[in-house]
Formats: sequence, C-alpha cells, structure tokens
Amino acid sequence: MQDTFVIEGLAGKRTLKGAIAVSGAKNAALKLMAASLVFRDRVVLKNVPDIEDVRRMADLLAHLGAKISFSRGTMEIMPPQNGNLPEIAPDIAKRMRASVVLTGPILARYGKVSFPHPGGCVIGARPIDIFIKGFDAMGARSVSDAKGYRIVTRGAHLVGAEIFFRKQSVTATETFMIAAVLAKGTTVLKNAAMEPEIEDLAKFLIAGGARVSGVGTPTVTIHGGGFLSMRGKTHTTTPDRIEAGSFLILAALAGQDVEVTRLNPAHLESLTAALTEAGVPLSVGKTSIRVHPKGKVPKLISQSIQTHEYPGFPTDLQAPMTILLTQAHGEAMVFETIFEGRLNYTESLKGMGADITMMDPHRILVKGPEPLKGRNLESPDLRAGLAFVIAATIAKGRSVIHNVYNIDRGYENIEGRLRKIGVKIERIPA
Ligand code: EPZ
Repeated sequence: MQDTFVIEGLAGKRTLKGAIAVSGAKNAALKLMAASLVFRDRVVLKNVPDIEDVRRMADLLAHLGAKISFSRGTMEIMPPQNGNLPEIAPDIAKRMRASVVLTGPILARYGKVSFPHPGGCVIGARPIDIFIKGFDAMGARSVSDAKGYRIVTRGAHLVGAEIFFRKQSVTATETFMIAAVLAKGTTVLKNAAMEPEIEDLAKFLIAGGARVSGVGTPTVTIHGGGFLSMRGKTHTTTPDRIEAGSFLILAALAGQDVEVTRLNPAHLESLTAALTEAGVPLSVGKTSIRVHPKGKVPKLISQSIQTHEYPGFPTDLQAPMTILLTQAHGEAMVFETIFEGRLNYTESLKGMGADITMMDPHRILVKGPEPLKGRNLESPDLRAGLAFVIAATIAKGRSVIHNVYNIDRGYENIEGRLRKIGVKIERIPA
C-alpha cells in the first residue's frame, strides 16, 4: 500500500498566491552522487533534494562501500576507500534508470561492473545499446544474460576513444564524461546531449581537477588524468528546471500572482517562450519568475508543442503542458519525439473530461477549453504524476491520486510546498 493524495479542485478559479521555491535538480544530484566515485576523498554536495531517488542512489553508493550522510540538503560522501565490489545492487537498479550512470565510474575504477537491466519510469523501451557500444569503444567487452550485464575492460583501464552517439542521450553523455576522467588518454563524445544537468556535472568534475571542454555543445572532450579532489570546496546542485516549469504551468492555470523562486530562467526558455505565446503574462527576474504579476488573467491560447533535446521543449514538461492545453482556446498537437510510451497518461485526462485524441503513440490532439472533473487517478510516472496534481487542482470536485511513491521519487515535500500557495492537497498515509 502506498500513500495517496486527496485534492479538492478549485473548479477553474484562479486563487493560488504567494511564492514557491524550487529544489535542487533530481537529474543533476543523482549524477553528481555517481561521480563521487571518481573522487579520491570526501565530496560535499549542497541543494540536494530529499527525494526517494536520491535516497536510493545513496543506497547504491553505500552498497559499493561509500559512507554517506545527508541532512537539510547537504550530502557528504566519502567514496569507497578499499572496497572492491563492482556491482550495482540489482534490487534497487531495477527500479531506477539513473543507476545506469554508475556503470561508467565503477568500470573505470575497478575494470569491471555487473548490473541488471535498469528500470525506472514506464515511459518507453529505454534501451542501453549506446552505453554498451561506448564501453566497447573504450576497450571493454560486455556479456548479457537474463540476469543482466557484465562488462570487463580488456586491459587494466578504460582507454580514451572517440564515441559518436547514435542519439543524443542525457545519461549516456554523463556516464562517459565520468568514466573518461579515469580512462587512459582523451575521450571525445560526439552528438552529446546538452542539458543543464550535464553542465552542472561538468562544473563539479572541473572543480575537482578534471579537464573537460565543450560542454553545452554537441562535442565534449575529456582528458583522462586520474582521481579528482574537491580539496574542501563544496558543489551546489543546479535548480530543478522541470519542477520549476511545472510550478509555472500550475501558476498559469490557477494562480493570481505566484512567484516561482530559486530557479535559473536561462534553463526554462523553451517553456517561457511557449507560455508567452499562449498569452500568459510573465515577469522574469534573475532567479525567479512571476506569473500573472499584475493579477491580470487573460484567456489561454492553444499552442502546438514538440518535445526535443535541450534547449528544445523538455519531454519531462510535456505532461504538465498538456494539462495547460486542455484549458487553452483552440486545438493543439502535442508531439512527443523522445519516448514512445509517454502519452499513455492522457487516457486518465480524458476520464476527467479533457478532449484529447490519440493519433499515434507519439502524437495527440488536444481541444480546449474543456472543464475537468475530479476523479481517482493512478500516477504512471513521476512527471505525469505531478501533471495529475495540476489537473486535480484545476478540476471541479475531489480527486484521489494513488501511487504517490511515483511522485515522491522526484519531488520533495510537494504537498507542503503546494499548500503554501493555496492548493488544497492532503497526504493520506498508507
Ligand atoms: C534522462 O533520461 C532523464 N533521466 C529523463 O528524466 C528525461 O526524460 C530524459 O533524459 C530526456 O531528457 C535522468 O536523467 C535520470 P536519454 P535518459 O538517454 O538519459 C534513447 C525523469 O522523469 N536511447 O536522453 O534515460 C531513449 O530510448 C526522467 O526525471 C537509446 O535508444 O534519456 C530515448 O528515446 C524520465 N539507447 C532517447 O535515446 C540508449 O542506450 C533519449 O533518452 C540510451 C537512450
């Protein structure tokens, strides 16, 4: 049994008010934690969100022999000193895709790694062929069976290589950046992903002494040079642009004057451009964005969106944006280009009264505005889970969201923070 959220909808009224602060990015923190394995001594990470996935990554590191303490957003990690257990704990890895990032540093450190097929949100096939090919290029061979994978370096170490990624992959770019730090020679990653979380990881590695260039472009070069050290410096995790974006969308739908704080507006340009086109007045500050700053609430205009690698429209904001489109005037196409199973949640929105037609597994047509009615919902993945919270907030009547674990995986104390701006949300413990 899992906790549930009970939400009393605002029935279309725009009453949310006040400031809501954004946490550190889940998808940055998890990779910073994995990268601690290429450090020689203690690392201190700040602004780490206290969420399920972060706790599970800490368990995976502890399984490898790392010592971890975590309190009030600050995580201290002492990498394993003598440990030599090159295994990603299967029971945890099966539940979390980000575990795959550990393959890079473990293989680079110990010359071998074994792991099950990584799990995570059910949003598509999520293969790992790009990883296997990359490790092969760096001098390692892989075998797989029903239990999972085992990869072993041919020589004592991974060797630098030129790797062209067949697709831009966030976790593959991160995995090979980390692995290349301990590899012999130079690694060049081509068609690399450019997400801000990758830049955050690069900053951390560079602060520890790594030689990394080209981050934020499709060609990233890493000169291998051995273990890193922070020498007492700390690293602060970049703000969660997906959480920030979800709050902005909620504010656009149900807010009078809401300020989303502790974010980086430069990471949110594709969303702020789409919201502006949809007619949402925004006032963009240095580290915050206000929605409907003058309390004026114009009607929303439909906007077609197409997900794309950064800096395009993020697939992780596709579900929240679709909720906005159900309330916008006109017809919009939502084209999900990254994952093939990431529109299935729209069936539940139809049950709430949304006018959505599935054209194929990648495309839906949304006609609006259509008022939503509260209902029982099952959170399919963490991003769609938060989208359901948004839908329930604007709907008429009460909604119950089951499977809240899927939301807790990515968002810290979400109900407490949303309540502060006026969302009527309660957690019912299992
Ligand atoms: C990361 O997933 C994020 N996860 C996802 O966030 C996010 O949706 C995604 O990037 C896209 O932005 C983490 O950072 C932990 P990809 P990732 O490899 O790295 C294909 C969330 O809710 N591909 O960039 O797994 C893949 O199927 C999560 O926080 C291969 O074909 O995504 C997809 O079509 C959900 N072979 C495309 O590449 C491979 O070996 C891009 O995926 C690897 C990927």
